[in-house]
Amino acid sequence: MIIALTGTPGTGKTTVCGFIAEHSQYRKQYCIIDLNKLIIDEKLYTEKDEARNSYNADLEKLEERVKQVISQAPDGMDIIMEGHLSQYLPADAIIVLRTHPVALRKRLGKRKEYSFEKVKENANAEALDVILVESVERSKNVFEINTTDATPLAVVKAVISIIESLKTGKIPEDFLPGKINWIDLVEL
Ligand SMILES: Nc1ncnc2c1ncn2[C@@H]1O[C@H](COP(=O)(O)OP(=O)(O)OP(=O)(O)O)[C@@H](O)[C@H]1O
Ligand SMILES: [Mg+2]
Repeated sequence: MIIALTGTPGTGKTTVCGFIAEHSQYRKQYCIIDLNKLIIDEKLYTEKDEARNSYNADLEKLEERVKQVISQAPDGMDIIMEGHLSQYLPADAIIVLRTHPVALRKRLGKRKEYSFEKVKENANAEALDVILVESVERSKNVFEINTTDATPLAVVKAVISIIESLKTGKIPEDFLPGKINWIDLVEL
């Protein structure tokens, strides 16, 4: 099964995947593809966005390269593509990590490379469900996890329970979109 693990920057995607990669009982079942690393290492971008201090990914090249990586993964492993653009790549399901925008602001505020504007832009994008909307526009199999008060391990367990439910043909009802709503926080 191929899973896109997405979410606004700071929602904990890399933390979840780091945990999976560090634990052998998970590592042998789930193959992680770090999209940000792939984009930078293999220059799969069209240009650098100087204002945002980020790269504009070349989605066509990225998709092609990811397909190659997936084809080389051992049989039977589930693939987790990790990155805030993963919802744009073909997948069996999309998992969106969510974080209350105030908590997200705190997490992103600790990033030295993030300007005040960039922190605010991302917190507002989270408040407006931007990535969730992008995901539901592309897939019927979208699930979301609220990470705000969850430990990284609890988030790992939620991700795995979604994947394992889907593999047995069950719908992980607890994680269906629509239960998380930050709209009261949107600046008008
Ligand atoms: N469940 C959690 N509870 C509290 N803090 C968390 C949790 N998960 C991650 N964090 C913290 O939030 C910060 C951002 O996490 P992380 O780098 O994993 O986000 P990301 O989604 O990979 O972001 P990006 O899209 O920019 O790569 C880190 O400082 C991390 O320690
Ligand atoms: Mg990350």
